[in-house]
Amino acid sequence: MDQWRLEREIEAYYERGGERERLLKNARGRLEFTRMQDLLRRNLPGPGLDVLDVGGATGVHAAWLAADGHRVTLVDPVASHVAVAAELPGVEAKTGDARDLPCENDSFDAVLLMGPLYHLTDRDQRVRALREARRVARSGGVVAAVTINRTAGWCDWLLWNAEGTAHSISAAESLRTLKEGDLRYFEQDVFTTAYLHHPGEVAAEFADAGLADPVQYAVQGFPGYIPQLEAVIDDQEARDHLLEGLRVLESEPSLLGASNHLMTVAALPA
Ligand SMILES: C[S@@+](CC[C@H](N)C(=O)[O-])C[C@H]1O[C@@H](n2cnc3c(N)ncnc32)[C@H](O)[C@@H]1O
Repeated sequence: MDQWRLEREIEAYYERGGERERLLKNARGRLEFTRMQDLLRRNLPGPGLDVLDVGGATGVHAAWLAADGHRVTLVDPVASHVAVAAELPGVEAKTGDARDLPCENDSFDAVLLMGPLYHLTDRDQRVRALREARRVARSGGVVAAVTINRTAGWCDWLLWNAEGTAHSISAAESLRTLKEGDLRYFEQDVFTTAYLHHPGEVAAEFADAGLADPVQYAVQGFPGYIPQLEAVIDDQEARDHLLEGLRVLESEPSLLGASNHLMTVAALPA
């Protein structure tokens, strides 16, 4: 476990406790939550599954997965996350790292990596995490991973400036993340160390981990960046219209990278 210690600034960022509220506190969080839930429900290979949520934080997704009738195990390296998740009904929570999962071979029908891949800035370590996910997944199961798109740092910067959100990231740094993908927001409120992928890079990392022919989905799509998102999300008719359109566009190849998050799902042969 020590060999795979989380970078200190990532740990310090999460120990501030922001994950408890992140997906509830505003329209962007609520859209992310709704779309992740919709995509997972459509990609899980049946009811009553053994689901492993790696990097599951305080259990925001583990909670509804357990309520849906799945047996959920959550693994996260941040002790305060695991302590909160361990209180959730139907969820077993363990401290651990995506690169060295504390789990038996072939023991889960679905393995979710909704966090670890973007916090591993070294490609070999991301492939290692995906190999671990494949190791613990059963035949006929799925591995689903979420990444942050290369465009996200730059689009967020434009949005923060338009909305007046406090941050101290320079325009030059935001452009650098767009060119290089290496996001290092040390000591910042807005986020922490991460790697921002192009969609094709994620598919290549899946292939190198033995996860063939994955399907990719733009989670929020480009409408996730509209400044008036609150008004859309709070109006049922407008929200349904948005969600229906996002389903139509979600796997359009030319738009996969124009979304804050991307979900990549590989089905293992039965
Ligand atoms: C932004 S949070 C996402 C939480 C939740 N999965 C979601 O989708 O909302 C990223 C999570 O990844 C976890 N994480 C970061 N590096 C990890 C690693 N190497 N192995 C496992 N989890 C990791 C963090 O502790 C944090 O809980």
